[in-house]
Amino acid sequence: MSHSRDTMVKSCPMNGGDDEYSYTKNSMFQKETISAAKEIIDKEIAQKLDVKNHLFASSSSSFRIADLGCSVGPNTFIAMENVIEAVKHKYQSQGLTSQIPEFQVFFNDQDSNDFNTLFRSLPPKRPYFAAGVPGSFHYQLFPTSSLHFIHASHALHWLSQVPNEVVDENSPAWNRGKIFYLSAPEEVGKAYAAQFAKDVGMFLDARATELVSGGMLVLIIGSFRNEISPSHTLASVLFDLLESTLLDMAKEGLISKARVDSFNLPMYLATPNEMTEIIEKNGRFKIERAEFFNPESAIKVFCSGQACTMHFRAGFEGILSKHFGSEIIDELFHRHSKKTEEFSSRLQSSSDEGTQLFLALKRK
Ligand SMILES: C[S@@+](CC[C@H](N)C(=O)[O-])C[C@H]1O[C@@H](n2cnc3c(N)ncnc32)[C@H](O)[C@@H]1O
Repeated sequence: MSHSRDTMVKSCPMNGGDDEYSYTKNSMFQKETISAAKEIIDKEIAQKLDVKNHLFASSSSSFRIADLGCSVGPNTFIAMENVIEAVKHKYQSQGLTSQIPEFQVFFNDQDSNDFNTLFRSLPPKRPYFAAGVPGSFHYQLFPTSSLHFIHASHALHWLSQVPNEVVDENSPAWNRGKIFYLSAPEEVGKAYAAQFAKDVGMFLDARATELVSGGMLVLIIGSFRNEISPSHTLASVLFDLLESTLLDMAKEGLISKARVDSFNLPMYLATPNEMTEIIEKNGRFKIERAEFFNPESAIKVFCSGQACTMHFRAGFEGILSKHFGSEIIDELFHRHSKKTEEFSSRLQSSSDEGTQLFLALKRK
């Protein structure tokens, strides 16, 4: 049987609009993480952004920032205001208050993202000019040397596609009966890792072209410590619960087992070592800071069954309904919620390790 159609499983935007299942209402985890990153971004901009640098300063009268994989608000607006505030402080601390530039923010996501909701909810009193840029961040999205600062939070873990081997019945990496790699055989993890390295390499090439020399790239990505086995991570426990919900439904004939076999999430959580290796191989950025953070307020979200399910639904309803049909979604998440409550102590016990990696890179 050919699975060629299924190898095309692609990331889908988060739930749009602002109803009870929207990303807007169900992204508290990401919001808490962005807030916790504010202090680190402040420090990095204060110490590393060289606003006096001739090349940097002469590139334009406006300071241009992009948020890649912005989804809908409010998180992207909070992140952008944090960056702008930090840049303004930097100018002030250098005695350059009179030279504080105008700011322009580009909100990027895939073209099927709900940009209407994003635009409608833009803060009326914002300290920047806003523009939307549709398209995949695995490719160049902006003119050469046109950006000063790029931010991407909770987005780079999305792969451009599910690795082909994972859905090939004849490959040792065929991921039968599983939907992710964290608790899967090693070959599956290797195929995912290779896809991630390729995608991030393309991402870095594009960003290096778009940024002015000395420009900064800040990434907040889901990750876990080098020394932890992937199957012991909070993410693994979380995705196993989604997987076992799907398998239960297949056993009861509510969905087909073959559909579960051919479904894989196009996502990857890299360790700091993997990220360092990819960035160094790319060679166009200097790593200024790489650090874990694990905001307690954010982690709590995933230890409460209902909130966890709502976050999963806001993030994965699109991709799941595309593959399994929208008619199963209510039942799927009803079961998922029960399962997360049942396993809440297991979720809590796997949640104390760092889950978010903050990276500040500077364009060489
Ligand atoms: C979890 S949301 C993060 C939103 C926001 N940055 C935050 O931190 O709350 C991830 C976003 O990345 C977007 N995304 C995934 N792959 C992408 C790609 N190749 N190009 C652009 N956006 C992408 C998704 O559509 C989604 O809106």
